[in-house]
Amino acid sequence: MSAGAALSWPQRAARVLLYGLLVLVFVQIAFGGLVAGSKAGLAYNTWPLMDGSFIPPASTLFAATPWIENFAANVALVQFNHRMMAYLLLGFTFWHCFHARAIGGSPAKRSTVILGLMLAQAVLGIITLLLAVPLWAGLAHQALAMIVLSMAVVHVVRLRGLSSPCT
Ligand code: HEM
Repeated sequence: MSAGAALSWPQRAARVLLYGLLVLVFVQIAFGGLVAGSKAGLAYNTWPLMDGSFIPPASTLFAATPWIENFAANVALVQFNHRMMAYLLLGFTFWHCFHARAIGGSPAKRSTVILGLMLAQAVLGIITLLLAVPLWAGLAHQALAMIVLSMAVVHVVRLRGLSSPCT
């Protein structure tokens, strides 16, 4: 069966959510690069709050002018974006996993592995932050990001060729 023909609702939902997930992983890796490059991991070393609040005031997040500069040069916004994207990614991964498990077979197994990897990556990111970025944690967080990305790409390729409930 050609890709996209007569897919069930869980198959279609899982596929659309997986494309979204892949885009978010790319964006998150770019945000991570900004965190590392601006040394934002050495500021706000608490979780889940940043300087006592879940969402810091706009005067902190957009302290620099012009406003666009904050996205790369203001450690508060750089770190905040990386945190928020992690929560969004986790939500997407759970949602995708929910539909993929309804398909069963290998898609269900792969999506569960991706969920486990994503949770591990988030926990590792939090540890990296709380410990103020020791080298081993920064390297492990970077390596796990590559594993998450690779697994997501493999899952997309396999799901694109989905022709039966057990592909
Ligand atoms: C869940 C998905 C996540 C992904 C895919 C991800 C990915 C990345 C990547 C690729 C980097 C850049 C590493 C480098 O270039 O050296 C990075 C840096 C970083 N991330 Fe994440 N991250 C995630 C979640 C989190 C979370 C939840 C936190 C903490 C709340 C976090 C904290 C950090 C910190 C502190 C750095 C800077 C490390 C350094 O300075 O070397 N990450 N992340």
